[in-house]
Amino acid sequence: MTDSFDKISPTALLVTYARQFSDIPYAAEISELVNAQAIAEQYMAEGIEELKHFAPVMEARYKAVNWLLATFECRQILELASGLLPRGMVMSGNPEITFVESDLPLMIGQKRELVDRLMVTRPNLHFAAIDATASPSQFPLNADYFRRGEPIAIACEGLLQYLTLPEKQQVFANVRQMLQQYGGVWITPDLTTKQRRSQLRKYNPATERILQAIAQNTGRSTFDNSFEDADHMQQFIAEQGFELQSFRLSEMLDQLSSLARLGISPAQIQPLLAGTSIFALTLA
Ligand SMILES: C[S@@+](CC[C@H](N)C(=O)[O-])C[C@H]1O[C@@H](n2cnc3c(N)ncnc32)[C@H](O)[C@@H]1O
Repeated sequence: MTDSFDKISPTALLVTYARQFSDIPYAAEISELVNAQAIAEQYMAEGIEELKHFAPVMEARYKAVNWLLATFECRQILELASGLLPRGMVMSGNPEITFVESDLPLMIGQKRELVDRLMVTRPNLHFAAIDATASPSQFPLNADYFRRGEPIAIACEGLLQYLTLPEKQQVFANVRQMLQQYGGVWITPDLTTKQRRSQLRKYNPATERILQAIAQNTGRSTFDNSFEDADHMQQFIAEQGFELQSFRLSEMLDQLSSLARLGISPAQIQPLLAGTSIFALTLA
């Protein structure tokens, strides 16, 4: 099974490349160090132009997670499927924050090496090999780096859309166990419906082509793994024992530095962002 998940890992380089069009700290350095462009090109049948709309959505996703982490005043953060995200490097600059990056063993090993090349070791930045779908859970339930009695935030961008319903269910169970112990919130933009994806197909065929290439390379269709509709999603979340607050990614519109670099107007990207949400999940 880990083999099957490992096939998802190269997509981390695709989104890393997309983020280098933004002003996100370390985005350009990381993209260059891992030569993300070479991998990204494999996902773009019609050249780099294909990324034009995908890149601002990835920037919005990253900034929206940060915005909610700040809104919920989280000081203990566990990030799932970190890939090559720079969030841990940035947020651990605040010594009051404990940040744990996690991913599959191969990917988190690579990430740790990369972070070591870019900055000095910080005592409040940790790395953990975690398959988010594992049962029994591999989450750091009793790790000494987390303070008991203080809530934690679990952040996760770019994982759940690849997972089947039973795999998602296991991630929800693992997160639930963690939040039962510490309290806190789970922040993720990874929940979507077939309805929304169909709208995206019509509105932005280039992004749809990228998603098709991802499905081919990973053997996992993010469309098939989406919820049928909003009711299906709500019902699933309630059954897993969570409550949901949702926010539109369009809230990030005025912070998207990649728009100017890519020559896109806010009006062009607005419909794409309006159809995408980010969620804060808490225990019901
Ligand atoms: C699209 S990438 C997103 C990476 C990162 N979150 C970002 O936005 O740049 C998907 C990530 O999920 C990780 N992954 C795949 N299966 C996983 C699993 N079962 N548990 C934890 N991480 C997993 C991959 O290694 C990869 O880093």
